[in-house]
Amino acid sequence: MVVQSEGGPSFQKLAILLEPGRDVRPGEFLAVWHGRRGKGDVLTVIQVDDCKEHNPNETPELAHTRRALELGPVASNEESSTRIFRVATCKTIEDLDTSPGVPAGAGASAPEMLCRAGDVAVRLPDDLVTAALGGLDHPSKGLNLGTLLGTTSPMTLSPEILQLHIGVFGNPGKGKSYASGTIIEEMSDWDVPGIILDVNGEMVDAVEALGGKVISLPDKNSFGLALNRITGQELASITPQVDLGRQYAELIESAHDALRTQRIQEELTTGKADDITIEDIVAKVTLFGQSSRSTKATSEIAIARVKRLGESRLIGPNFAFIEQLKKHRLICLDCRRLQLSETRLVAAAAARELQNYGRTCARRVEQGTPEEGDAEWLAVLFIDEAHNVVPEGQTTVTSNVLRELARMGRHSRTGLILASQSPVDLDASILKRMQTRMIFALERDQLKAIGGVRSDLGDELVDALPKLSRGICAVSGNGDQIRHGFMMKVRERRTPVGGGTPPVFATRVKRDRGVGK
Ligand SMILES: Nc1ncnc2c1ncn2[C@@H]1O[C@H](COP(=O)(O)OP(=O)(O)OP(=O)(O)O)[C@@H](O)[C@H]1O
Ligand SMILES: [Mg+2]
Repeated sequence: MVVQSEGGPSFQKLAILLEPGRDVRPGEFLAVWHGRRGKGDVLTVIQVDDCKEHNPNETPELAHTRRALELGPVASNEESSTRIFRVATCKTIEDLDTSPGVPAGAGASAPEMLCRAGDVAVRLPDDLVTAALGGLDHPSKGLNLGTLLGTTSPMTLSPEILQLHIGVFGNPGKGKSYASGTIIEEMSDWDVPGIILDVNGEMVDAVEALGGKVISLPDKNSFGLALNRITGQELASITPQVDLGRQYAELIESAHDALRTQRIQEELTTGKADDITIEDIVAKVTLFGQSSRSTKATSEIAIARVKRLGESRLIGPNFAFIEQLKKHRLICLDCRRLQLSETRLVAAAAARELQNYGRTCARRVEQGTPEEGDAEWLAVLFIDEAHNVVPEGQTTVTSNVLRELARMGRHSRTGLILASQSPVDLDASILKRMQTRMIFALERDQLKAIGGVRSDLGDELVDALPKLSRGICAVSGNGDQIRHGFMMKVRERRTPVGGGTPPVFATRVKRDRGVGK
């Protein structure tokens, strides 16, 4: 029952006197019934922030006195005492119209009905809770990622969250990669193509089980990036023995940029253009070297470095990202054996290809000349350990492409899923565009980097975050697809899970050196 409390009941908060024996959990959803005012179909959904017991029989003074007099514990409890009770403080979430014919969740609006002291508070059926949060009423309608914590009710989120980027954050070992695997399973069920940049080889088995293609990089036979497809800066970053920022590096960059612009022009006017070769770059560097103020030595160093590009494990005939995605749906690029600069290059290339194709599809649809599959095209790029690929404070080859991708959101028909144990170290402008956030146990200082979470989840749930168990996360959203933050237990994976902690102590026995005897 709603009771009078400091500052409430108000539109924002209220207090509930609990029935003896009834428990509530922090974050649990209840509802206040407006039947006393003839509005029996309207419920105000409320969420438990905290709960306090009032028990004047157990003040320290009385408890101490009883102990000193050896009187034993008091027998009275909440059921039998008139002085012992518990009050839960709650915040209002929304008004829910439960009239017959209104589908679950469809009649939700911001709280406008003032709850009054004396109103009845009831436990909300799970389906109404999930509906109030923005969950869909059947797993077949969206992404079934788990259950609302404390219930067996599936939490099915709108598949549109894939278009608006998902960030998966949490301390090491708390279940980010596991949960990302559930998202990939759901993507597969929806036939959404995805490129998975697998830095730890954890998704290999899952992607194979889902019928996708796995490429262990480097693999010159199956995967290459054509010199036309990467930028001058990217090229310089993977050219052996190049210090970025040096004069010869800039010469390489500008020679390559000039060739690339030329080829793009050619492709626009004639419909095709030759690949840029290492010899083309050498010739351009020589030409630029002669015509610029750089010394002969600078162009000689640049040429020597460019010639070593032939050794690069990634440069080669371009991987047909889109064609391959259409064929296999899921492509796992196992990057375990790549250097970080190479992984970043692959991420940038994949992001650029997806974005370009997504925009092409959107343009063709807009112009009324869609090709088959254009109208529903959406692809996803998943990057684990994203703070290494797009670190904060550095403009890596990947940052610019991903920043643009994140900014363009749904318009480029490319969703990003980034997982990271260290959002503080992740590019801030990309981070703030992750519209859905799944946050596993995470330290307070890390949490500060993820904007908007405190207002969506509320202080109490945010305070509980560092202590969450493995596999439990807070889900926070943008308001359209996820109306309010909630706690979720990630569902079990259907696909094999890779990357467990190696059992390096399983067969060892500690030596007995007699220490401490
Ligand atoms: N929901 C879950 N149910 C069962 N097992 C889980 C769940 N989540 C994680 N695990 C197990 O816990 C271990 C660590 O999980 P995971 O690899 O997903 O952590 P992580 O957050 O990605 O860690 P890291 O930051 O080190 O990459 C794995 O062995 C995984 O199988
Ligand atoms: Mg992981």
